[in-house]
Amino acid sequence: MQAIVMTATGGPEVLVPREVPRPRPAAGEVLIRAAAIPVLYPETQLRSGAFPTTTPPPMVFGFQVAGEVVDVGAGVASDLAGRLVVADTAGVGSYAEFVCASAESTTPIPAGVPVEEAAAAMMSGSVALALLETANLTGSETVLIEAGATGVGSYLIQLAREFGAAHVIATAGGATKIEHARALGADLVIDHREERWTDRIGESAPATVDVVFDSLGGASATALLAAMTPGSGRMLSYGWLTGAPAQVSAADLIPGGLTLTACAGAAWHGRVHRARADTLARVPALASAVETVLPLDEAARAHELVESRIPLGKVILRPSASA
Ligand SMILES: NC(=O)c1ccc[n+]([C@@H]2O[C@H](COP(=O)([O-])OP(=O)(O)OC[C@H]3O[C@@H](n4cnc5c(N)ncnc54)[C@H](OP(=O)(O)O)[C@@H]3O)[C@@H](O)[C@H]2O)c1
Repeated sequence: MQAIVMTATGGPEVLVPREVPRPRPAAGEVLIRAAAIPVLYPETQLRSGAFPTTTPPPMVFGFQVAGEVVDVGAGVASDLAGRLVVADTAGVGSYAEFVCASAESTTPIPAGVPVEEAAAAMMSGSVALALLETANLTGSETVLIEAGATGVGSYLIQLAREFGAAHVIATAGGATKIEHARALGADLVIDHREERWTDRIGESAPATVDVVFDSLGGASATALLAAMTPGSGRMLSYGWLTGAPAQVSAADLIPGGLTLTACAGAAWHGRVHRARADTLARVPALASAVETVLPLDEAARAHELVESRIPLGKVILRPSASA
């Protein structure tokens, strides 16, 4: 079968199409014929070496897949065969025509949901739902959604009011993404590429933010503390797009009575997984999250596109065998 092998850490060119043996499902696993493989922003960081991979290269790259179950391993109910599902690998193996994943990681794709849309939503939409449940919004609060034009942020904007936000402020980089974040439903969009963008939060009414969904991390998280509602402001930290986690200590939070919740780690990922079925059920009511579909052998080009920060939606890989 065709697969994309990560040959070393480095630029997109380390993702090379190769012929490799088709995997066989071990006990507790399913074999999936891949139809749509989402290219994830964190994957670009693993490929570049910014974050360590658990399996050293060379290895078949990739974390997530959507497609049809074509075989099951020992101990897996045989009626899973023939189902369309989304699934996670254990960190390797999804950029391929056939993919093994644990049966526990699978979630059925509801009838009528296109497989590419399911692949696009499975990570970002589920993280957004878990974040909104954690935020526990009251119905009258103001939220700040960083990097709101794409990925997790785009789902947060679309769903925030349903979960109790009264006022939605977002950030995005550049005019096209600002326009996109507005179209998704943000009341105010601030360009996070501007110096001191956090100063602009006071321009909106009400002038403080109750919940910050922080994907940028770094120094901007510190600057935001002054804009948060004293006594009830809460920051949900789930990403480090600036390259460093939120630079916030307990001593920074205590004077304002603020809280920071770290949305990461195994328990967090369990919450995200439990939100997946709800996410897929919501896909028909949400804006399309697919920017482009490329053939599997163009995985390197797909990573270039994601790193360009130009796409307004997910880049999806499609193996030729699935066409
Ligand atoms: N904790 C979790 O469970 C979890 C799960 C998934 C993702 N994450 C993290 O959440 C963050 C967002 O992920 P995503 O999948 O939603 O991302 P994404 O939308 O697919 O891509 C990242 C977006 O962030 C913006 N951005 C801002 N600063 C950036 C920078 N310095 N470098 C690159 N992009 C930058 C870019 O938009 P502009 O052009 O508008 O700047 C870009 O479109 C990432 O840090 C990711 O690792 C966490």
